[in-house]
Amino acid sequence: MITKNISIASDLIRNGKLVSFPTETVYGLGANINNIDAIRSIFRIKGRPSTNPLIVHTYSLEKALHLFDFFEMNNIKNTIMKIGFEFWPGPLTIVYKANPNISDIVTASSGYVGVRIPNNELALQLLKTADVPIAAPSANKSGHISPTDVTHVYNEFKDDEVTILDGGDIRTFNNGIGIESTIIKLDTGKITILRSGGISYNDLDNFIKKERLPFELEIIKKMSDLKKGEIAPGQAITHYAPKNIKTVMIKISKPLKLTDISDDKSEIAILDYGRNALVFSDKIAKYLDLSEASDISEAMLNLYNYLRVIENCKLVKKLYIITDDQKNNLGIQDRIFRAASGNIITV
Ligand code: TXA
Ligand code: MG
Repeated sequence: MITKNISIASDLIRNGKLVSFPTETVYGLGANINNIDAIRSIFRIKGRPSTNPLIVHTYSLEKALHLFDFFEMNNIKNTIMKIGFEFWPGPLTIVYKANPNISDIVTASSGYVGVRIPNNELALQLLKTADVPIAAPSANKSGHISPTDVTHVYNEFKDDEVTILDGGDIRTFNNGIGIESTIIKLDTGKITILRSGGISYNDLDNFIKKERLPFELEIIKKMSDLKKGEIAPGQAITHYAPKNIKTVMIKISKPLKLTDISDDKSEIAILDYGRNALVFSDKIAKYLDLSEASDISEAMLNLYNYLRVIENCKLVKKLYIITDDQKNNLGIQDRIFRAASGNIITV
């Protein structure tokens, strides 16, 4: 069922049903964290390994703080309050020790919980009306492209018992981001970025310095150091890949020439960035540009949508995604790297 009615959606959540809802990043597949059967059904319906914890969503800083256990670590508590006050509602997930009353299924028995307040009116209304924290991964089958439009969620779960709160296309939202939240984990003296996303490294670094917070900011591992396997729970090297299409990431330092790609042109798609592969536009099966103006926010908003458009093109057997190597777009580079299962060429 697809609905625009918040009270229907929140009753379903409270009663242990799954409801997909829009956020400013991607659509989530939500369940009441107090209902174990509902939480289990998220894992079942997504095909998600039980080792991969879920992010818990709530609507206020005060509610968020209750989800953690500070063991009288007031320094950490104050820091989370400051970071939360600055970046929430917004595309940032904070991971810290979990309140023991949160189920091990949510935390994947890690003892840590990820918490976020989404910056979207429908999501916030749902959270307030249901008035329970909602555990929600992205509303896609495990490993598939994350959903940024109500139709993406519908196509993913049309055979499952999932109600969708219809927010339309995230690209039309005031605060739309289009890729998932940045995830940070707090330890004594250290804040580690587990996943790059809607909040950039510089946003966090500037804030930590401005507030003189006694924490070093680290990124868990550079993308280029990634090997097969996982760097953090759920950070598999193949993720977001269009089905049945071999995908390659191209790092460019100059516009692409026709001779740079030797494949049969009738079978390839190019996802361009900043008109760098424009010579291919009328010569291949599908050509799209994430942002003609090389605007990273626009590219993030288009990425998952365009990957699905290309996935649905029957002619396409191979996809090239163009990226340039700017420091401040680690979130989108990470998604492209995983969509390409780590296959990179440099031109
Ligand atoms: O923007 C987002 O974060 C979206 C929207 C719906 O909020 N959610 C999302 O959830 O991307 P998901 O499950 O697709 O990705 C969550 C990531 C996973 O890689 C998971 O391993 C990590 O967050 N994560 C969640 N809880 C964690 C924890 N306690 N410790 C470490 N990583 C955690
Ligand atoms: Mg996901």
